[in-house]
Amino acid sequence: MKPYYIDIHTHILPGLDDGSQDEETTLQMAEIAAGNGTKCLVCTKHTDMTEPVSREDGRLIRDGVRWLREELQRERIPLQVLPGMEIMASEDIRWKIREELLFGLNDSRYFLVEFPFDAPEDYISFILDEIHTFDGLVPVIAHPERYYCVQERPERIYQWVMEGCLTQCNRASLEGKFGGREEITAQRLMDANLVTCIASDAHSSRQRTPRLEGGYRQIASRYGEWTADLLLRGHPERMIRNEPLEVRGYARPVAPFSME
Ligand SMILES: [Fe+2]
Repeated sequence: MKPYYIDIHTHILPGLDDGSQDEETTLQMAEIAAGNGTKCLVCTKHTDMTEPVSREDGRLIRDGVRWLREELQRERIPLQVLPGMEIMASEDIRWKIREELLFGLNDSRYFLVEFPFDAPEDYISFILDEIHTFDGLVPVIAHPERYYCVQERPERIYQWVMEGCLTQCNRASLEGKFGGREEITAQRLMDANLVTCIASDAHSSRQRTPRLEGGYRQIASRYGEWTADLLLRGHPERMIRNEPLEVRGYARPVAPFSME
């Protein structure tokens, strides 16, 4: 059976953030995704990044998903789309979760959260602890390989995973498209079984695209198809279905290593 993928991180909805800027691009992205084996993707608009999150964000995302579903049906593009958010960390994140301004991937317990690239380790820990104060909520750390403190000390991810966090690496990082440090860090996390899933973090139909096929092949050739299936389908599927996902049994500490 040809593998298929579930992409939990995309900026495909038009005109809501720095992702797709128009409806045409959105449909091109959807065609690319479906044509490259993606069966389902989550529309994770950046939230709380350039402007403070409000109830309007949730409404825009849900309206956008509804519109996209109609378009996909009309254009006969076989792709399922779900609502989500890529939540920028903020000190009052606990209040925002309590107020239901933020929500998880397909309204699940899995909250995709991102940090400024130069966020200090302590700040990341603080935010993750704030999310953990909600019984059952699970932080999914978006592209940890892009944060400077993780690049310097990837073993920190082991501790966060053991505390109950999950991780999502970008397909492009594995291919070295963001630069050597991201690639090396992503590989080190992969080698220590600290990557829960791979997603596209797609922003357009030309540069940061929703293609996942290359990432699948790369992981399959290095770590085997079983791992590739788990990272691009099995684990994401559990997240969007809001099913329990336990990865701590696989995790290993990362050996110290110098980038210099
Ligand atoms: Fe993103």
